[in-house]
Amino acid sequence: MTFIQSDEKDSIILAIETSCDETSVAVVRNGREVLSNMVSSQIDVHQRFGGVVPEIASRKHVETITVMIEQAVEQAGITMQDVSAIAVTQGPGLIGALLVGNVAAKSLAMAFDIPLIGTHHIAGHIYANQLVAELQYPCMALVVSGGHTELVYLEAEGKFQLIGRTRDDAVGEAYDKVARAIGLPYPGGPHVDRLATEATETVDLPRSWLEPDSYDFSFSGLKSAVLNVINQTRMRGEEPKYGAIAHGFQQSVVDVLVGKSMRAVKQYNVKQLLLCGGVAANRGLREALTKQCEDEGVPLIIPPFEYCTDNAAMIGAAAYLKWKHGQFTELDFTAHPQFSLEQWSV
Ligand code: KG4
Ligand code: ZN
Repeated sequence: MTFIQSDEKDSIILAIETSCDETSVAVVRNGREVLSNMVSSQIDVHQRFGGVVPEIASRKHVETITVMIEQAVEQAGITMQDVSAIAVTQGPGLIGALLVGNVAAKSLAMAFDIPLIGTHHIAGHIYANQLVAELQYPCMALVVSGGHTELVYLEAEGKFQLIGRTRDDAVGEAYDKVARAIGLPYPGGPHVDRLATEATETVDLPRSWLEPDSYDFSFSGLKSAVLNVINQTRMRGEEPKYGAIAHGFQQSVVDVLVGKSMRAVKQYNVKQLLLCGGVAANRGLREALTKQCEDEGVPLIIPPFEYCTDNAAMIGAAAYLKWKHGQFTELDFTAHPQFSLEQWSV
């Protein structure tokens, strides 16, 4: 199939996201304007298992995806004939979950003869910022979610360079594991955040800076330190001070995330810092980053919460980069659980 994309026509992208435990379909005009953004979360189903169960996630996506597509199109006030391209998360993510969205997208593309855009999930998180602000290049993105902790340098629009990533747990994953040790429900991030914010005491915990020039992260040592404090206190027959532990944990996480981001902002001399991913909801992180950026005169962009957690509007925003360049994906593409962000650059 050959598709010609015209600069004069509005781009109406129907976007599908099923990489983890949210089934989401959105309609986005010209990469900026969200006409609809339907999100169906599966958290209730996975909660009793203490984390996402991949097979259940896939099954739930299958049950929900068709209705979500219909609702997103209806709510946007368009018909399938108005759609310029179908965008879908190609990876990274859970393979079974990705496949549900990929098959739905391919079916629509074939049935309506519309081009496809296989889209990178992290590019989506980063370009969620484009839904609320005009991006200026070069810029730096701090991606913090349940599956990712990355510092991404964007020299120009759609040009991604990964300068740092976690070597073990993602930051959201560490929050969820600490929450579990404290006995809080999944996903635990918001609960640990609340405990930390309300705490009047703190426990001193280590900071994992790694090598002085590294932009990589590591959170598993910190998570083990938290577990040690809890276990040792219990072995003495005492009740751990969970608020103080949550506070110490959050301080350590925030210090490292903010410290490395600000160093990257300076070294790469960027015009903006973008924060994205589910952990961008964290009060401690938002406050510390906002203050540091104000002090150092760095413009900081944080999308509203609905665009921080997994959603299809962000996929539509990122896919617009490819649409502008007429870079469409063949119908026989495959889902990539480990998809390279740099290779996805325009
Ligand atoms: O981006 P997201 O919705 O899904 C992934 O792509 O992973 O992020 C979910 C993660 C979970 O680990 C959750 O515990 C964490 O974001 N999270 C938080 C907060 N709100 C959500 N972590 C810390 N503080 C929060 N307020
Ligand atoms: Zn995500």
